[in-house]
Amino acid sequence: MKIRKAVFPVAGLGTRVLPATKAMPKEMLTIVDRPLIQYVVDEAREAGIEHFIFVTGRNKGVIEDHFDKMFELDENLKSRNKSKEIEELARFQPGAGETSFTRQQSPLGLGHAVWCARELVGNEPFAVVLPDELVLNSPGCLKQMIDIANGLDERSNLVAVEEVPMELTHQYGICGIGERHPTHSTAFTIDGMVEKPPRGTSPSNLSITGRYILQPEIFKILETQERGAGGEIQLTDGMIGLAKTQQFYGVEFEGERHDCGSKPGFLRANIAYGLQRPDLRDGLRKEMLRYLGQ
Ligand code: UTP
Repeated sequence: MKIRKAVFPVAGLGTRVLPATKAMPKEMLTIVDRPLIQYVVDEAREAGIEHFIFVTGRNKGVIEDHFDKMFELDENLKSRNKSKEIEELARFQPGAGETSFTRQQSPLGLGHAVWCARELVGNEPFAVVLPDELVLNSPGCLKQMIDIANGLDERSNLVAVEEVPMELTHQYGICGIGERHPTHSTAFTIDGMVEKPPRGTSPSNLSITGRYILQPEIFKILETQERGAGGEIQLTDGMIGLAKTQQFYGVEFEGERHDCGSKPGFLRANIAYGLQRPDLRDGLRKEMLRYLGQ
């Protein structure tokens, strides 16, 4: 299965991190020294993705700018011999024609955002990556999934899953566990999915997280998908429809997941990613100990 395209839904309002997101897109929130959206584009590139599709909305234009060339900045850095900065900017710069942008118009839910990318994706399997969820690991979460997808039947769908406390399952999209894959111990067939199951009814404590590999047949289902939990068109509901005719696999990825769309998750991610950086680690640790009075 060749996965060439990734869809990044970035049209949400980010209400959990207001007021930061009043005028600035949530996906541009900065973890250490780069915006969330850059981490996930880098993760997708590492996984072999060749085309990056952004489903944007109003007030999100700066995301497009972030992936464009900035001639004034480049010239200024050149004239000041700032070669480290020039290299850093060049490293994440997508090539001409590697990005596409489309608008969701109204934030009707994740399922609707993915459906908005249908013409850009076309008739091939694709990845969906949620920028507010970062997974700290090398190889990245999407690469782990694509490595597994390569050995599966061409019509397979995959979702990344993570354990959550059983008493909190009513807050998540949850999947039931079928059979373990004979060679990939982190993968299993999914035996049912449910969005926000009422307390006491959850089939497992494995929640569906922000990385998906989907077959293009999902678009036909999303086209007529009705609003579900929270009054939004839910991707999980679309996947439940697709699971009637196609196989879904869960992948228990390696790595620490950070929900950067919540205030505690955003703060924790800054510390975790800062402590990973050889150039910042020691100074950060010293400052943290100083603040904690140790
Ligand atoms: P979230 O539910 O985490 O984002 O969706 P949100 O709605 O912006 O956040 P809160 O709950 O109000 O704080 C995950 C991803 O899906 C996108 C978001 O931009 C985010 O990257 N999304 C969500 C859309 O593109 N469109 C939508 O209608 C909803």
